[in-house]
Amino acid sequence: MAKKKTGGAKNAGTKHAGGAIDIGISGADRRKVADGLSRFLADTYTLYLKTHNFHWNVTGPMFQTLHVMFETQYTELALAVDLVAERIRALGYPAPGTYAEFAQLSSIDLAPGVPQAEEMIRQLVAAQESVVRTAREVFPLAEKASDQVSMDLLTQRMEVHEKTAWMLRSLLQ
Ligand SMILES: [Fe+2]
Repeated sequence: MAKKKTGGAKNAGTKHAGGAIDIGISGADRRKVADGLSRFLADTYTLYLKTHNFHWNVTGPMFQTLHVMFETQYTELALAVDLVAERIRALGYPAPGTYAEFAQLSSIDLAPGVPQAEEMIRQLVAAQESVVRTAREVFPLAEKASDQVSMDLLTQRMEVHEKTAWMLRSLLQ
């Protein structure tokens, strides 16, 4: 992690050839948002992997429904991680992209083994909710930094995860 030049508002306005980022958000604030988005990325990626794993391994009378539903969900998540990672890059910081970093940053547990279909749904509801909670924690950092783009991205992601959690939850009722 390049920890040079987190010079805050002073540096944010500095311009030199090919260099400084001047989008009206200080380096220190961009870093706080990027760190928060990195946790959000790790959660989203971990949820992606969990959902894809369950798509592969689900069995039972609900196989067809869940196999297809999980595919829709992991496909959406695969696109979403790209948006989050590229937002971190636009803020001027490296995006985490290794399993080691994701495991360290994520709030979602990837338990080994193959749960029964209903337990898979329960785990996915919990994981979807966990991603929303992380987004809600990161949001104020973006708000304080006047980073409307990250606020918008987080808001859109929260909407998707809350809706998906509802759909999964409905299968259990
Ligand atoms: Fe498949």
